[in-house]
Amino acid sequence: MTDILAILHTAETTHSLTKAEIVLLLATNEYDQQLFMAADRVRSKYVGDEVHLRGLIEFSNVCQQNCFYCGLRKDNAKVKRYWLTPDTIIELASKAQGYGYKTVVLQSGESDVYTIADMHYIISKVKALGLAITLSVGEKTKAEYEVYKKAGADRYLLRIETTDREIYKKLHPGMELENRIRCLTDLKELGYEVGTGCLVGLPGQTIESLADDILFFKAIDADMIGLGPFIPNSDTPLAGELGGTFVTSLKVMAITRLLLPDANIPATTAMETLNKEGRITALNSGANVVMPNVTEGEYRQMYLLYPGKICINDTPAHCRGCITGKIMAIGRQVSNKYGYRVKNKQ
Ligand code: SAM
Ligand code: SF4
Ligand code: FES
Repeated sequence: MTDILAILHTAETTHSLTKAEIVLLLATNEYDQQLFMAADRVRSKYVGDEVHLRGLIEFSNVCQQNCFYCGLRKDNAKVKRYWLTPDTIIELASKAQGYGYKTVVLQSGESDVYTIADMHYIISKVKALGLAITLSVGEKTKAEYEVYKKAGADRYLLRIETTDREIYKKLHPGMELENRIRCLTDLKELGYEVGTGCLVGLPGQTIESLADDILFFKAIDADMIGLGPFIPNSDTPLAGELGGTFVTSLKVMAITRLLLPDANIPATTAMETLNKEGRITALNSGANVVMPNVTEGEYRQMYLLYPGKICINDTPAHCRGCITGKIMAIGRQVSNKYGYRVKNKQ
């Protein structure tokens, strides 16, 4: 078992592991604390102690896709659909800035509710406020991504969800893994900071396939990697599944930090949903970003991807104070910078 300690040492010093080595790390729980501590050291060395906050605006739950795990899927008739007007979205961004955020994440289901011209208007107005913009609105054409980039978008989040071709096909009717990869490639070519990530604990997923996911993040040199447990939603076809565990998600995240030392890695909402101290534990195990919700009122409840989602009855002001307090309590600071990825020069 000292093999595991040798693997951890290799990961911490070279930031490179084979698939077999990653599988060994995921297969045992005996050295988890050492793994988390190594990821924390690498985080501190490469991206420092500051935590970047990104204000998350969930601006529409309308979705034309049917991802098996997601509460917003098209066939979920129980969801009351909403879409905020462009000016409401801009106003939320402005309020987020008032709370001290330097970046907003504009996230929605995948749909054509907003025309390209609408998106151009929203992005350029939000950019003019002096905010960095992360988009997370699904698969689009390269031409569309280009318009958004030119309008002022800086970053794009599009999880690969799983690199396992069979599982991907089963869980994403009408979608193709190749198209997802095409989107990520287009986004990189256009100069976005590209965020991806996976769901941990999908039905049929093995530790080998999680190892492939981690190696995929490394292969595409992802700028941001969001990882979280799959949490079953009773209004979806995966209602009866077990879902992912907090510890496995944390381990996938920690190994990802070891391999991509300078990436931005959020402590995700789904992690806190499974564990009351989830985000803080993640910040102590490799994460350096948190994305507090800045959506207002009833819309938070209507953006229900999975049950138990945190913060759905809280206000943006409350969440900002809450997370700042938690970050300071572990001796870290909230950054007042934009928090772009600073590439390791080694
Ligand atoms: N529609 C865009 C997309 O799919 O990229 C952005 C919004 S989507 C709701 C954001 C993320 O939610 C997805 O990438 C997925 O990983 C996550 N998600 C959806 N359902 C989930 C579930 N049941 N448990 C955990 N995460 C989930
Ligand atoms: Fe739509 Fe995104 Fe949910 Fe898939 S994960 S159903 S694309 S909101
Ligand atoms: Fe929303 Fe703590 S971050 S209540």
